[in-house]
Amino acid sequence: MCALEEKSIVLAVSGGIAAYKAATIASLLVQAGAHVDVVLTAGALQFIQPLTFSAITHRPVHSDPFAPWAADFSGHVTLADRADLVIVAPATAATVARLALGLSDDLLGLIALSTRAPILLAPAMEDRMYRHPTTQQHLQTLTDRGAAVVGPESGRLASGAKGLGRMSEPADIVRRAQVLVQGAGRLAGARVVVTAGGTREPLDPVRYVGNRSSGRMGFAIAKAAVAEGAAVTLISGPSAIPPPAGAIIVSVESALEMLAAVEEAARDADVLIMAAAVADFRPETSHASKIKKEHGQDYLDLRLVRNPDILASVNRPGLVKIGFAAETDNLLEHASAKLHAKGLDMIVANDAASTIGADHSTATFLMADGAVRAFPRLPKQELAFEIVLAAAELLAALRRGDS
Ligand code: CTP
Repeated sequence: MCALEEKSIVLAVSGGIAAYKAATIASLLVQAGAHVDVVLTAGALQFIQPLTFSAITHRPVHSDPFAPWAADFSGHVTLADRADLVIVAPATAATVARLALGLSDDLLGLIALSTRAPILLAPAMEDRMYRHPTTQQHLQTLTDRGAAVVGPESGRLASGAKGLGRMSEPADIVRRAQVLVQGAGRLAGARVVVTAGGTREPLDPVRYVGNRSSGRMGFAIAKAAVAEGAAVTLISGPSAIPPPAGAIIVSVESALEMLAAVEEAARDADVLIMAAAVADFRPETSHASKIKKEHGQDYLDLRLVRNPDILASVNRPGLVKIGFAAETDNLLEHASAKLHAKGLDMIVANDAASTIGADHSTATFLMADGAVRAFPRLPKQELAFEIVLAAAELLAALRRGDS
């Protein structure tokens, strides 16, 4: 979090229900050592009190564009000048529209036109409002002018409906803020290939042999790598959750399809992170027509043949390889054996039973040089950032020529 230390951040809050989450953003920024000037729009004042923010930031909260200036404070001019970053969270549809049009009849509008600092928007609104061409056009206008956008995410919205429009989590917004203040992410310019989800090994046109992987870990890694400035290719088996924005998505089904996609993408990649649960075996025959049961048939014999090991087979000098080991027994021994057998730079070892399909994971990183880093139980997105930061360090070491 040190990138934010002593930085001046304007946190502008507009009038949506996610305004309450802006208090957490303010708190995280303050904890990271930033000086936070909160600006509330008229709409935000309907949802949340200035006192909430002044108690967190220990600074005055601003909302009135006509508030008198003082000797050392010239309203929007001072706020805009001293800002290293302006965060608009939540950015409602109305605020996005106002900013795109350059309306400056409130304090946020004045600051947005006056500042030379980067602007980070965290949109939050109902699904249809977000998808409306007007909103999309306004967001496009703002990004064309250099604004950064984080989210929105899919999930439960204030109306109770599910859709795209939830504000990104405060920790994700603060991480993005950190990258913007630093000027570049820790994987800026790097090409990263991430695999996610489980493979489906076809039996016939309607059946497959599969596993319980949700894709969540790989998607979280792809999202973290995008946030750290990498060009990300996400190769994913079928997943019920929406893929992260900002990555090139390659959808595959079987292990053989995943192998072909990884070989192609890894050709000019700097980092390969295999979070996918690849089936080790596939049915020897994939029947062209649906397998029918015979009258009185009690058994179906299935012969499975070995799939190639994708991680072990993709090797290129200059490629950082990170794998996963989800085990039920002797976790670290098995993980260490896989680290060496597959020629990896790092393996993420975790307990299969508590990880697959879950939101959280407990992990230990084993490095090729013997170093070990154990993490407590973390949300997968937090763990994903740790993996991406480790990847960035491994890549930097490789480029320096460290042994
Ligand atoms: N992996 C792979 N190709 C395979 C199987 C696994 O690239 N055919 C990758 C996974 O994505 C993961 C790592 O290898 O990053 C470990 O996978 P895992 O299935 O746990 O290990 P296996 O080597 O298959 O060993 P076992 O099933 O015996 O535990």
